[in-house]
Amino acid sequence: MSIHCPAPGWFRAPGGAERTWVGLALGWCVVLTIMMPFWHLRGKQNSSGEAYAVTPAKFAERVSKFVETNEVAKDEDSGYPIVEPTPGGDAYLQAQMWTWYPILKLRKGETYRLHISSLDLQHGFSLLPLNMNFQVLPGYDHVLTLTPTLAGEYRVICNEFCGIGHHTMTGVILVEEGSP
Ligand code: CUA
Repeated sequence: MSIHCPAPGWFRAPGGAERTWVGLALGWCVVLTIMMPFWHLRGKQNSSGEAYAVTPAKFAERVSKFVETNEVAKDEDSGYPIVEPTPGGDAYLQAQMWTWYPILKLRKGETYRLHISSLDLQHGFSLLPLNMNFQVLPGYDHVLTLTPTLAGEYRVICNEFCGIGHHTMTGVILVEEGSP
């Protein structure tokens, strides 16, 4: 049997329960669409998408300069530099298969401009245990203006599949009380 056009007049508008469900689904779509801008304006953990073009090489250069200037210690386990940016200043976090570099040390109540980018492919910045998720793409310097409100040790998890070592891609952000 071959495929052929249905006879004219085949379409009938949904009625009864089907009509109700289509209406409910459509109404819910409208609600969710309104909620997106609403939470962007009312929520506390939204980025306004401040981003700049940057080549991976240029970003890596800025990261090493940032580390050189602001390194305060070395992590004993990983050997990674622990870097403390100036409050009110710029901080850098570099994503690369399968690391977050360097370890950042921030102060509670201070505001930083955190630049995040990738040197290779797409990664995801997910800050645990908080509910924060950002795409990290090569070529884009994504700037998050953030003010830590709680002291502690936070994990950065990659939430975009980026190859065989994806699950090992974790980083650390330390938040301490007091001034540097
Ligand atoms: Cu990086 Cu998954």
